[in-house]
Amino acid sequence: MTTRARRIAKTLMAVAALGLLAACSSVGPQDYLHPEGLVARDTDNLFKPVFWIATAVFVLVEGLILVAIVKFRDRRGGAEPVQVHGNTKLELGWTIAPAVLLAAISVPTVAMIFAQAEVPTGNDVVHVRVTGHQWWWEYEYTDVDPPVKTATEMVIPTGAKVFVEVTSADVVHSFWVPKLAGKQDAIPNRINHLTLIAEKPDVYHGQCAEFCALSHANMRLRVRSLPPAEYEQWLAAQQKPAVIPTSGAAAAGARAFAEFGNGTCMSCHTVRGMDGATGTVGPDLTHFADRMTFAGAIFDTNEENLIKWLRNPPAVKPGSLMPNYHIPEDTIRALVEFLLSLT
Ligand code: CUA
Repeated sequence: MTTRARRIAKTLMAVAALGLLAACSSVGPQDYLHPEGLVARDTDNLFKPVFWIATAVFVLVEGLILVAIVKFRDRRGGAEPVQVHGNTKLELGWTIAPAVLLAAISVPTVAMIFAQAEVPTGNDVVHVRVTGHQWWWEYEYTDVDPPVKTATEMVIPTGAKVFVEVTSADVVHSFWVPKLAGKQDAIPNRINHLTLIAEKPDVYHGQCAEFCALSHANMRLRVRSLPPAEYEQWLAAQQKPAVIPTSGAAAAGARAFAEFGNGTCMSCHTVRGMDGATGTVGPDLTHFADRMTFAGAIFDTNEENLIKWLRNPPAVKPGSLMPNYHIPEDTIRALVEFLLSLT
């Protein structure tokens, strides 16, 4: 082996080792091997036996290949091996055995596909319409009147069946909360669905799982499951319009929100309770401060991050539809006060 070839081989091995080491982490917030929702758990209960069966097949087949390579390798000075052309019994065997195995696995698999596609019924089913946007998620709670619209963070009651209708406002996205359920494509002009059931009050991480251009990796989301009574309180609070501040820095921010650039903010964002703030291009901000994160869940909701965001959105989220409006620094600070007042 030349020095160059050896170096390339070493580099490849180092990269492979890194890949293997990365697989050692078992505490990731998006680890689908540790489900915390009934739907994801059902899938996991099917995945595990299939995985071990596949592992046994792998070891058997690779083992036989290794035995053949070692045992029947060309030996110096050896005679030419016996030439054989096929073995009917063997060939029948390795055709029928996998067919039977796959047929057996397909029985519970197909049953589960149909079971999970079933539309849940009953008074306690919660309906949420999820719309993918470049690059954030919108949630609409359609069981209540007036319906509630939020973004980035989906709040659900623990233990309840949450029937999610998934669609898109622009390109194809994929809604994925690994610990709760499988992926579901978000396709414009089409409604797909999936059911989520969270087992305990917790916060689950998720993300868009279909490449959707520049900030695909920044299209994340959270699902927050609350005890049912708290969920009802949350929903009732969300139904109310925003309380628009009338004094202090937050009030100055509210005025800036309405007046900056002739209503630039209001033309893209809805704040229920504020005259003229009815835009639907960007997230509904009515109860913005209730959400733990913003901008596709890439930032925790706090003053520092909001300032960073308003100074230049595309600089911190490439491709962001909200451009850099070159907002003056004191206006940014007032806007942040206003946004953080929207609980
Ligand atoms: Cu949306 Cu990737």
